[in-house]
Amino acid sequence: MLQLCQVRYTYPGWPPVVDGVDWAMAPGEIHCLVGRSGCGKTTLLKLAAGLMQPEAGMVLLAQQPVMTPHPDMGFVFQSPNLLAWLSALDNVLLPITLHRAAQPEDIAHAHDLLARMGLSALAQQRPPQISGGQQSRVAIARALVTRPRLLLMDEPFAALDAITREELQNDLLAVCQAQGSSVLFVTHDMAEAVYLADRVTVMAQGKLQGEVQVDLPRPRPSDLRYTPRFNALCAELRAMMDEVR
Ligand SMILES: Nc1ncnc2c1ncn2[C@@H]1O[C@H](COP(=O)(O)OP(=O)(O)OP(=O)(O)O)[C@@H](O)[C@H]1O
Ligand SMILES: [Mg+2]
Repeated sequence: MLQLCQVRYTYPGWPPVVDGVDWAMAPGEIHCLVGRSGCGKTTLLKLAAGLMQPEAGMVLLAQQPVMTPHPDMGFVFQSPNLLAWLSALDNVLLPITLHRAAQPEDIAHAHDLLARMGLSALAQQRPPQISGGQQSRVAIARALVTRPRLLLMDEPFAALDAITREELQNDLLAVCQAQGSSVLFVTHDMAEAVYLADRVTVMAQGKLQGEVQVDLPRPRPSDLRYTPRFNALCAELRAMMDEVR
């Protein structure tokens, strides 16, 4: 699905911010990337998305080089970035309507995604009329409307309260499972990483420093977060983060 081979990137005047990164994701997998502020996570995600080109190495999506943002990829960034003058439904349809008129099946799919996100009643509301958590759900539905094979998410839930965040984690897992999408998810929250991921990778100083394989079964019920195995994995991840400080 996604492959990064020895990817390097340097902002002028600084040491490389992404330095020889290898990554491989199989279809349907969910990978999380954690690391301290400024370690290069967003830069790595932008390189994977084709928004920036590496100075060395390669990014491949389904074995094809990624030179520009690809229709098989969806993006969700930290702020929802919705258009205030469009309804929630029209915001979800935007990746389609930027290129062509929405067809009845597109509109039905957008309604279906809004329903999965618990937003059916708000489809005609505009962003200023809905809450921050609801706006985040609209942004996720928008990223999924083209049925991307890969979703790239940069701390999409960071601004939300803990309960809303847990609800959105469940919504994300359900929708991705229904669509078979792979996800590369950046977060600061170690419990979020363990709950979502098949694999959590720790980044520091531009390099991938280690990873934790999350052997928890799916589907993952909410109360999994209170089990000894879940807490052991969080502790393992925490120890790895402390080690690479
Ligand atoms: N456009 C830019 N020009 C120069 N330096 C940059 C630019 N963007 C980011 N950097 C630097 O590159 C480093 C990595 O930035 P990046 O945004 O990838 O970090 P991050 O791991 O996503 O951090 P955070 O967790 O705070 O979002 C930082 O030291 C930052 O100052
Ligand atoms: Mg960042």
